[in-house]
Amino acid sequence: MNKITAAITAVGSYVPDFVMSNKVLETLVDTNDEWITSRTGIKERRILKEEGQGTSYLAIKAAQNLIERANIDPNEIDMVILATTTPDMPVAATGVYVASQIGATNAFAYDLQAACSSFLFGMSTAAAHIQSGRYKKILLIGADKMSSIIDYTDRSTCIIFGDGAGAVLFEPNEEGLGLQDEFLRSDGVGRDFLKIEAGGSIMPPSEETVKSRKHFVQQDGKTVFKYAVSGMADVSEKIMQRNNLTKEDVNWLVAHQANRRIIDATANRIGLEQEKVLVNIHRYGNTTSATLPLLLSDFESQLKKGDNLIFAAFGGGFTWGAIYLKWAYNKQ
Ligand code: UT7
Repeated sequence: MNKITAAITAVGSYVPDFVMSNKVLETLVDTNDEWITSRTGIKERRILKEEGQGTSYLAIKAAQNLIERANIDPNEIDMVILATTTPDMPVAATGVYVASQIGATNAFAYDLQAACSSFLFGMSTAAAHIQSGRYKKILLIGADKMSSIIDYTDRSTCIIFGDGAGAVLFEPNEEGLGLQDEFLRSDGVGRDFLKIEAGGSIMPPSEETVKSRKHFVQQDGKTVFKYAVSGMADVSEKIMQRNNLTKEDVNWLVAHQANRRIIDATANRIGLEQEKVLVNIHRYGNTTSATLPLLLSDFESQLKKGDNLIFAAFGGGFTWGAIYLKWAYNKQ
């Protein structure tokens, strides 16, 4: 019997209808379209506006999109992993609700949090479960309602983030396709540079924490930028080297969409031409856990069976890493 690898066999996505353009942000903070475009590559992002709808709404829509596109029976799903930094509530796990709502009645579910690397780390977790032979269909969803934790008076964060969700299905493969290798890293030095200070166990919510806007994301953008550029480029180079991949062997770079300049720096380090770099940051901004599956969903028709994909991400914590995956199907 051939070795079992874990392949992505279906994708889906969802973004809310409301478009927040750079022009809209000009009315909220002291910024302008030219600055945002040249410094980040972002032109617009989507925002989930409706009251009472959280990350689960985005995740359910993305999962349903995958189920429809690939004609999957949700009863056959064994496990649902929701990669997210913005759960509906601190307790109970949002993935559990999502699994029930999509009819994955035979699955167990939970959430996985590693900031902007949540989906990448989730790929590792899902693949390991498939490779173990214990589970046959794992739905990995990346979803974040970043607008719920962003301060729209802070120009250093509100221009970057947006809301969205994407989903992939992992299944066993005996042709050697799917996840080939991973190089995942973390470093606690990052916790001072990108954080939400209040609402956790160190600083529970109080009138004071709300007044001082401590429930919103704060970041030292410059420092995060520096770590992100070197981190993502290092791991991408490393995973190519140890798998003997030249730039000609790599078909696609699937990089976390946080800043166009970080994506370009990573591509330059591994010598990849622009045509091989998947980019949709101009349309969605940084959707945190959703950037990687949103890319796969948007570019699905261009991905061919056997293509070599390098995934790379960097996030708060710090967390970062790269994954080498062989694409497993041609879209019909
Ligand atoms: O996924 C992980 C999550 N986060 C990231 O990956 C974010 C990484 N960091 C970044 O993407 C960038 O650091 C930012 C986009 C946040 C900022 O870009 P930057 O090129 O690092 O700008 P900066 O912070 O060095 O600021 C340059 C100038 C400053 O003005 P002075 O001091 O030169 O006069 C800022 O005050 O730009 C000013 N500035 C702005 N101007 C207009 C900062 N933010 C804005 C803004 N609009 N939104």
